[in-house]
Amino acid sequence: MLSLQKIAITHFKNYDFSSFVFSKKVVGISGLNGKGKTNLLDAIYYCCFTKSYFTNTDALNVNFTKDGFRLEALFEKNEEPQKIICINRGSSKKEFYVNDVPLDKLARHVGSLPAVIIAPDDIEIIIGNSEGRRRYLDTVICQLDNDYLQQLMIYNKVMLQRNSLLKQFAEQGKIDIPLLQIIDAQLTVPANIIFKKRTTYCTQLMPMVEEFYNSIANNDEAVKFVYKSHLQNEHFASLLTRTYERDRLLQRTSAGIHKDEISFELNGQPFKTIASQGQRKSLLFALKLAQYQLLKKYKSYSPILLLDDVFEKLDEKRMTRLLQWVCKENDGQVFITDTHKQRLEDAFEKLKIDGQMVEL
Ligand SMILES: Nc1ncnc2c1ncn2[C@@H]1O[C@H](COP(=O)(O)OP(=O)(O)O)[C@@H](O)[C@H]1O
Ligand SMILES: [Mg+2]
Repeated sequence: MLSLQKIAITHFKNYDFSSFVFSKKVVGISGLNGKGKTNLLDAIYYCCFTKSYFTNTDALNVNFTKDGFRLEALFEKNEEPQKIICINRGSSKKEFYVNDVPLDKLARHVGSLPAVIIAPDDIEIIIGNSEGRRRYLDTVICQLDNDYLQQLMIYNKVMLQRNSLLKQFAEQGKIDIPLLQIIDAQLTVPANIIFKKRTTYCTQLMPMVEEFYNSIANNDEAVKFVYKSHLQNEHFASLLTRTYERDRLLQRTSAGIHKDEISFELNGQPFKTIASQGQRKSLLFALKLAQYQLLKKYKSYSPILLLDDVFEKLDEKRMTRLLQWVCKENDGQVFITDTHKQRLEDAFEKLKIDGQMVEL
């Protein structure tokens, strides 16, 4: 079992200082627009992922009128307390403590307090470019497999080096093949590991996404989830060699796992182009619930679920089915935000959920 019992937020985004105590499994958070509902969910997310869901630029998380922020949260995991403290002092590196022990590698914390968020702009995962889908997949796997995140960080770092080398070659008008081969050898190792892991986890996600889609949309449309990678057809090492000329011209690495794609199909056609609004939303929720389910399977307890403004996204029937599944058929903690307090209370009452209400 995993639950968040309290959180104190200082100078994070629009917060000055606020603290919250959570005593129930289902927490409804209400408040007008701009009150800080999304920011509260992001503060919780931050404690789980050591970063914001919405931005990689930490300065944006510091209250505009302040110089740093502090988050202190108390979780309970399998009956053990997990005290998280995160301090951002503005300029220097942020500090992260778990039970008062400082973490030197933040990435190692990811997955130890598993969480899934469904945020308003997440529909971009379905309709936006492939980057959003890779990010979704990376977020799924990072929490399941700590080595994955390490490999991803190595891959990105080496690729930056390779790209700046390609730029140098272009400036100098020559190409140093032996040097490139050294970099390529370094890039191939994490690429192959990431490719293998993506293949494995996609295979497990696919049937879950397909099943959740049908149950949320309440139909039997054939939705398909397909993982595509350059590495499916060719060894990465030979692919890199084959694209030297193109890479030199483009001054960047044109092939690799950073170009992987997840594509969705509906009844054999590209999902993006033919799906209705409702079908898109159903697929988004299917992706997130599949992530939740997969995490639950590996961790053997439910992750924390952060549902931001989902009432705006789903019609009443779909919303009831969603709440039924997350709040009644699962034992995990769920945070749900909404601008209308009454709508939350009505939903809780209808499903006989003994929820806690927090008003901002
Ligand atoms: N770094 C920051 N400093 C101060 N205010 C911020 C910062 N980042 C966001 N905000 C403010 O937080 C408010 C939005 O909070 P949000 O959690 O999105 O509200 P809600 O979800 O309740 O509508 C906005 O008014 C925004 O300007
Ligand atoms: Mg919001």
